[in-house]
Amino acid sequence: MSTSSRRSARETTTTTKPSGRATDWGFIERVLCSRNVRTAYLWGKPGMGKTFAAYHLGLGGALYALTVTEETAGAEIRGHYLPKGREMPWHDGPATQAMREGARLVINELSHGSADVLSMLHPLLENLDTARLTLPTGETVRPAHGFQLFCTDNLPPEDLPEALRDRFDVIIEVREPHPAALAQLDERLRGPALRSFTLEPDRRISLRGWLSVQRLLPEFGLEYAVLAVFGPTRGAMVLDGLLLGEAQN
Ligand SMILES: Nc1ncnc2c1ncn2[C@@H]1O[C@H](COP(=O)(O)OP(=O)(O)OP(=O)(O)O)[C@@H](O)[C@H]1O
Ligand SMILES: [Mg+2]
Repeated sequence: MSTSSRRSARETTTTTKPSGRATDWGFIERVLCSRNVRTAYLWGKPGMGKTFAAYHLGLGGALYALTVTEETAGAEIRGHYLPKGREMPWHDGPATQAMREGARLVINELSHGSADVLSMLHPLLENLDTARLTLPTGETVRPAHGFQLFCTDNLPPEDLPEALRDRFDVIIEVREPHPAALAQLDERLRGPALRSFTLEPDRRISLRGWLSVQRLLPEFGLEYAVLAVFGPTRGAMVLDGLLLGEAQN
């Protein structure tokens, strides 16, 4: 299933200086806020904040976002004719709208996109002078100033087709959640959360899970919040980890 949405403009400023590690959030913010970055590929483990960063960091205008699956047709991104009474008017899809308005287009789960979708994105990833999209109406749309295309995925860039990978201005690995996201967690959750991000995939708990616990915490208390979010078996292991952390403090 795919979703498309338009969000209001939001400005984010760089607050941290990069420490030199290409995965630091200070550096990531600086890159994504740069007016010289038009296309970006953000990748990393699930729930690390790639989509959040693509939606918010450095956004200076409108945002169009789409999560693609194998079933997503190129027409869903480009646009389509929609019957209206006896007419068949054309409706721009999110890519066409973003290009016309000079907005940011975010494609989530890029590697799940069909060949149709990926080949449609190729020309959009070109530089502003050559990027263009020809619609079934015959019109060729060229991107307005400010158009950006950010893509997110779990796969490392090496796993993308070379021609696609080669077209991104920047490739960013997100290895840990943003400090602002971690700051939302109760201090009892923060340490275990940080440790859990580095576990092997079958034991790893993403930021999403910890944020769910955080939301239930005031109403249910720690134990029941954890059990509700992770279920009895996994929840018991998480609780053991949390109690172990408390005992060590
Ligand atoms: N900087 C942040 N501030 C507040 N909440 C955040 C921040 N970053 C991420 N989150 C929250 O953490 C959760 C996971 O983030 P997000 O969906 O961006 O992860 P992702 O890396 O795109 O995951 P996936 O690979 O599964 O798509 C979301 O609920 C998101 O709102
Ligand atoms: Mg995502």
